[in-house]
Amino acid sequence: MKRSIYAGRVRSEHIGSELTLKGWVGRRRDLGGLIFIDLRDREGIMQLVINPEEVSADVMTKAESLRSEFVIEVTGLVAAREQVNDKLPTGHVELKVQDLTILNTAKTTPFEIKDGLEAADETRLRYRYLDLRRPEMLENFKLRAKVTHSIRNYLDELEFIDVETPMLTKSTPEGARDYLVPSRISQGHFYALPQSPQITKQLLMNAGFDRYYQIVKCFRDEDLRGDRQPEFTQVDLETSFLDEKEIQDIVEGMIAKVMKEAKGLDVSLPFPRMAYDDALNNYGSDKPDTRFDMLLQDLTDLVKEIEFKVFSEAPVVKAIVVKNLADKYSRKDIDKLTEVAKQHGAKGLAWVKMTDGALAGPVAKFLTNIEEDLTDGLQLENNDLVLFVADSLDVANNTLGALRVRIAKEQDLIDHSQFNFLWVVDWPMFEWSEEEGRYMSAHHPFTLPTEETIYELAGDLSKVRAVAYDIVLNGYELGGGSLRINQKDMQERMFTALGFSTEEAHEQFGFLLEAMDYGFPPHGGLAIGLDRLVMILAGKDNIREVIAFPKNNKASDPMTQAPSSVAQKQLEELALTVESHD
Ligand code: AMO
Ligand code: AMP
Repeated sequence: MKRSIYAGRVRSEHIGSELTLKGWVGRRRDLGGLIFIDLRDREGIMQLVINPEEVSADVMTKAESLRSEFVIEVTGLVAAREQVNDKLPTGHVELKVQDLTILNTAKTTPFEIKDGLEAADETRLRYRYLDLRRPEMLENFKLRAKVTHSIRNYLDELEFIDVETPMLTKSTPEGARDYLVPSRISQGHFYALPQSPQITKQLLMNAGFDRYYQIVKCFRDEDLRGDRQPEFTQVDLETSFLDEKEIQDIVEGMIAKVMKEAKGLDVSLPFPRMAYDDALNNYGSDKPDTRFDMLLQDLTDLVKEIEFKVFSEAPVVKAIVVKNLADKYSRKDIDKLTEVAKQHGAKGLAWVKMTDGALAGPVAKFLTNIEEDLTDGLQLENNDLVLFVADSLDVANNTLGALRVRIAKEQDLIDHSQFNFLWVVDWPMFEWSEEEGRYMSAHHPFTLPTEETIYELAGDLSKVRAVAYDIVLNGYELGGGSLRINQKDMQERMFTALGFSTEEAHEQFGFLLEAMDYGFPPHGGLAIGLDRLVMILAGKDNIREVIAFPKNNKASDPMTQAPSSVAQKQLEELALTVESHD
């Protein structure tokens, strides 16, 4: 029989109708001879009643054999329920079953198919199709589809052209390692999966497409975190002849439309702008969460003259004030915060508490000379806790920035109904990499330097500023973009600044440099992390919750066992040998 309607969509208006429903058995209860079944499909749960006096013996036998997750087809009459269940949209009705077919059986599932599940992550991923049967998971994907639908409509209306760019391509540096794909036809040669379509979308501007977008998979081999997967999706766009404000306006309009259509929320435009330096100095992060205060305070000048050398001799001393929560932090708790501080490179974490109008704690005795200034300057009140880091500016900012977020989370200081979008602007072009011992692009090597700082490309790289902008939401980097270099000589100077020899630059990016010989227009764009956007809108804290088949934190898939070893024959065709593996 053809299905009449999704089970989850049956309502009082259907009372008296004969319907055929198909779906999975949720729960079965046997009560006084009657059998009650929760039938589940993608739209919800509907109660079925099987009454031995109304069905054939054959149907009754089948009903008695039903177990959770059997797939069934039922036909019957919709009736009003005696005991209404207000928690379910279908709670006013039930289906009085006349006929029942078992379409498939199921073993006992490794976890119960229900919301609020506590199964281990590995188990959820191993049986992802069962995990995705849980209504709350399906909701995440409906939300994701709504978001992409709004985005496409918006960009289509603005005449952006949706273009696909290659997956088998050449490395585009976005700061991560590449996933490589060996070539059978050109043995010993490799494609790289794109870390982003950065260069190809720029070439589409050279082609005169003027406005491009793509909802596109990107691949980055980097250490995983809650907001990072090796394979993720960008809403990628690029435009010609627009300045950064015009590009930001387009993106703001897109976000506003998504928020309205996917969440029913009005966001106010334009989004606030915050300079990169202010974000770091005040929030200790280039992706500040502005839903709560606890801003970083600079005490370097104040502590210059005190005897406590840890403070007076440090390049900078900064602090955060945890308002009215000192009693929540025992020495043990502060030891834990100290551990966190050390993970961020701090040498220690000094603290004082304001108790009975005076500073208390192990370093309070060093601060007596400046106690009044400190109390006034930080506007300290009883039960405030002050955490200090004395170190380089970077370490002090990063450490206190991390503590700020951790404390806000653990003390529940965040208003989760807020969506605080903002632009972080005035970026440095380069960041010093301790690991590499050199300056690297803060974004990527195609970013346009500001006119005022271009000359520093051959001088002090720390002074070069970029026409770059990141969009930040609730403490996450949601997206990033910039105006790009379109002049060959400037692109060459950029590669030189990054330490490429002329040969290396031409070997890797010769095709882009060559394109710059042929009327490359001024252009710029941005990419938003779609998984992150949907994760935040869904109120989750891991992008796995909004990716159908994600990888675990070892970048593997417990269901398919990818990555896996391959047959010797495949290796031979590719002229590869594997030296050792587990
Ligand atoms: P960027 O490298 O900042 O910029 O990436 C843009 C956005 O993509 C998301 N993102 C990720 N999401 C999940 N897992 C990952 N591993 C991951 N890496 C990045 C983030 C990030 O803000 N080509 C430029 C954009 C441009 O300049 O137009 C780029 O890729 O949300
Ligand atoms: P010390 O005099 O080294 O025993 O340190 C006294 C207190 O200052 C301890 O609580 C340390 O954790 C803390 N401390 C040490 N070094 C630093 C630093 N660089 N910044 C902030 N606190 C520190």
